[in-house]
Amino acid sequence: MQKDKDTNIDTSNSLLAIKGLSKSFGDNLVLDNISLAFEKGKTTVIIGQSGCGKTVLIKHLIGLLRPSDGSVYFKGERIDDLSEHKLQKIRTNFGFLFQGGALFDSLSVYENIIFPIQQHHKIKNYEKLEEIVKTKLTMVGMDGYQGYNPAELSGGQKKRVALARAIALSPEIILYDEPTTGLDPIRSDVINELILKLQKTLNITSIVVTHDMKSAYKIADRIIMLHNGRVVVDGRPEEIKNHSYPVVQQFINGQISEKDLKTIQLSSIGEEVAKLQ
Ligand SMILES: Nc1ncnc2c1ncn2[C@@H]1O[C@H](COP(=O)(O)OP(=O)(O)O)[C@@H](O)[C@H]1O
Ligand SMILES: [Mg+2]
Repeated sequence: MQKDKDTNIDTSNSLLAIKGLSKSFGDNLVLDNISLAFEKGKTTVIIGQSGCGKTVLIKHLIGLLRPSDGSVYFKGERIDDLSEHKLQKIRTNFGFLFQGGALFDSLSVYENIIFPIQQHHKIKNYEKLEEIVKTKLTMVGMDGYQGYNPAELSGGQKKRVALARAIALSPEIILYDEPTTGLDPIRSDVINELILKLQKTLNITSIVVTHDMKSAYKIADRIIMLHNGRVVVDGRPEEIKNHSYPVVQQFINGQISEKDLKTIQLSSIGEEVAKLQ
């Protein structure tokens, strides 16, 4: 049966859009007929409990995963069915800071940042490269660290270098997957401020997956919550804060649901609790 895919999504005039997107892994339906359009120059934050499909969703935006159903559009062009070769070209418009944000440990900070540039542009002019690296590192407050190895940097510094690498190709869109996870509150706030600064100074469109509601409220123009494969709320931060759905309030306030609480209270510590993970 053909699913109803009628939506108000204007794929031809949006910077980035998904339409009727579903994704299953075997029997596991992770995304269920999701349609969204992302506005240029805005920061959209995606929230939802662990395993609800946030990473899977943003991987579809750059063709790292292919939909089971539905489509993805970049500047009006359908991209989910492009060849890997064509997708690589599309991806140069995106910066991504993925979970782990892994820098190449065997390369210096400088070499890490020129890596994506060399992959796509093969610039031979070393002065020009040095200038680009300096500009990018200055943006994240890390100029002077060019010669360091990742192992010599703190967690927060590594994230900032990874962010400098993400903006190496001057992308229009940056995808951040849990950029503040593992950082203390102050270092998390440095990342929040950098996300805001990039949006304001370069008019970058940001899509940020996070668990961190403090960060979400600070940076978001719009917050989307995923639950059971669907979008349960989509609105401005104030609308989310005051939303009436219990599932939304439980998530943003970090509260366990009544049902899960009962399970914990009634069970002897052990198997029952393990089921809640
Ligand atoms: N490559 C994959 N193969 C099979 N299952 C996957 C794959 N990637 C993600 N999943 C499943 O999709 C669901 C959503 O995962 P994910 O998007 O990583 O969640 P999160 O919201 O925590 O980012 C999980 O059940 C996960 O096990
Ligand atoms: Mg994830």
